Amino acid sequence: MELLRTPGEMRAWREAHPASLGLTPTMGYLHEGHLALVQRSLAENERSAASIFVNPAQFGPNEDFERYPRDEERDLRLLRELGVDAVYLPGVEAMYPEGYQTYVTVEGLSQGLEGGSRPVHFRGVATIVTKLLVAVRPDRAYFGKKDAQQLRVIRRLARDLDLPGEIVGCETVREADGLAMSSRNAYLTPEQRAAAVVLSRALAEGQARFAEGVRSAEVLRLIVSGTVGSEPLAELDYVSVADSETLAEIEGDIEGVALLSLAARLGAVRLIDNVTLGEGG
Ligand code: PAF
Repeated sequence: MELLRTPGEMRAWREAHPASLGLTPTMGYLHEGHLALVQRSLAENERSAASIFVNPAQFGPNEDFERYPRDEERDLRLLRELGVDAVYLPGVEAMYPEGYQTYVTVEGLSQGLEGGSRPVHFRGVATIVTKLLVAVRPDRAYFGKKDAQQLRVIRRLARDLDLPGEIVGCETVREADGLAMSSRNAYLTPEQRAAAVVLSRALAEGQARFAEGVRSAEVLRLIVSGTVGSEPLAELDYVSVADSETLAEIEGDIEGVALLSLAARLGAVRLIDNVTLGEGG
């Protein structure tokens, strides 16, 4: 497994390895959700690369960039064991050298939901993903559906900037009790971890009521917020029922496919999750 630390090293490796390539971009501290993306990449491409980069540009000034969990040695061992061919792990100075001033903004899709609570987040995500796709030039790049808005922002930027390669969305991997896997779960105390199951439980309730025929977006939002509100350790940031493609909030009844999503805090830990209502996903 080759380790590449600069865009130049990455590009040179790609030029020397023209076979079909899958890329799994990550911020490290890998969990089963990341490994499922890597496994899919390994199954669908002749070669696979992963990137590990905790991207400062996607964290707001009061967010957890400094304390974001990191364990490079363990991550590299896991990727080696799976059979990954190359890992791109640039330093901050390689990605954002002195004088850096170019950013990618996906306008409409970045604005609501996570963008409403985290104003610089998607500009940072769009910028780093563009840089990764340009340096690695994968045939396919793999992202989790847990970050539903991120996936849509990335699909949009790849289309709008005519970036080659397919953006592949992969199902959310969950713990046995339903909690969506996330590197941030590592911050939870045992009590918060037990309480965090309320996020997936609330979404499952919304899904069940939708299956029973409830179509009012407002009623579904109330069902979900009521369930989250019943857990004293959880503080709801938002619950959204939005058009699955445009992410525009639905005001009346759901007619096509909708994304039911939420963000909540358990102490200082902010978690997100979502499910799809209707066909597709
Ligand atoms: O989902 C993540 O881990 C990050 O947002 C990504 C896509 C690797 C960009 O930094």
